[in-house]
Amino acid sequence: MQQSGPEPVRPDGTGGGGLPEPLIELSDVTVRYGAGPGSVLAVDKFSLAIPQRCFLSIIGPSGCGKSSVLNLIAGYHKPSSGTVRMNGTEIVGPGPERMVVHQQSTALLPWFSAARNVALALTARGQPKAAAREGARHYLNMVGLAGFDDHPIYQLSGGMRQRLALARALATEAKVILLDEPLGAIDALQRAVLQDLLIRLWDETHTCFVMITHSVEEAVYVSTDVISMSARPGRIIRQQKFDFNRSALAGADSHVRASPEFAEAEEELYETLTAASSGKTAPSEGD
Ligand SMILES: Nc1ncnc2c1ncn2[C@@H]1O[C@H](COP(=O)(O)OP(=O)(O)OP(=O)(O)O)[C@@H](O)[C@H]1O
Ligand SMILES: [Mg+2]
Repeated sequence: MQQSGPEPVRPDGTGGGGLPEPLIELSDVTVRYGAGPGSVLAVDKFSLAIPQRCFLSIIGPSGCGKSSVLNLIAGYHKPSSGTVRMNGTEIVGPGPERMVVHQQSTALLPWFSAARNVALALTARGQPKAAAREGARHYLNMVGLAGFDDHPIYQLSGGMRQRLALARALATEAKVILLDEPLGAIDALQRAVLQDLLIRLWDETHTCFVMITHSVEEAVYVSTDVISMSARPGRIIRQQKFDFNRSALAGADSHVRASPEFAEAEEELYETLTAASSGKTAPSEGD
């Protein structure tokens, strides 16, 4: 199912008038880097309406434009054509209502403790220092870092840094958390634990999560909605809904991944992506 044209399609399968306004809306977006014969068309005919409350994963071949799409929502760059809106207002730059967490948490300040890194987000929201310090403890507890308040960043493992980056993103009380392969550098066992943490945080905070992942298993397990993208120029080739995360939240996590339904969903998404990867990449130079 390829989505094209200016009319966004909601990942929950609904569309048309009378529905609640989406949180984020990308309408007929293209992203082209550079100009003239050497330019690169990274994203093409990309229309998507992201509802207020969803865990959306974006998956697709390397270089297909996933980060480009996320960066549009973050406001790091503008589309070459088309529009990106949040609650109906065009996104023109970064803002505290949209927080990005990258793969290796490079934005953490290494000379600050874990608590001070989180407290920064709270003082930026206008909280006095003492309250921010207290508030930081709350967010550290949420991500399983209770007791690590005074630890400097360089004493934390990769997984703990990702937890900390999540805590800081949540402390901003952003409406949407943008995750660019947040667990990409985490070992398999720890990754499964952090996937459960992501689901729980998403559920508890009532925030919209938009995540890029290269893992089919991860996309199927954590998401309410999955967008599959074609090879560059990236277009939406398929939108699917899942609810395995609900079962995991209900306490059946060890059974979810072992169920035949899960294996089937994984296989189907894998096949979609295999077809996408082997698809002909449109010309990128001067097209
Ligand atoms: N600032 C830039 N200037 C020029 N080209 C860029 C720029 N950013 C990205 N590109 C190109 O746009 C295309 C899409 O890049 P993007 O980073 O969005 O892909 P991606 O799907 O996130 O890839 P990956 O899975 O490897 O992270 C690539 O061909 C990339 O080289
Ligand atoms: Mg990327």
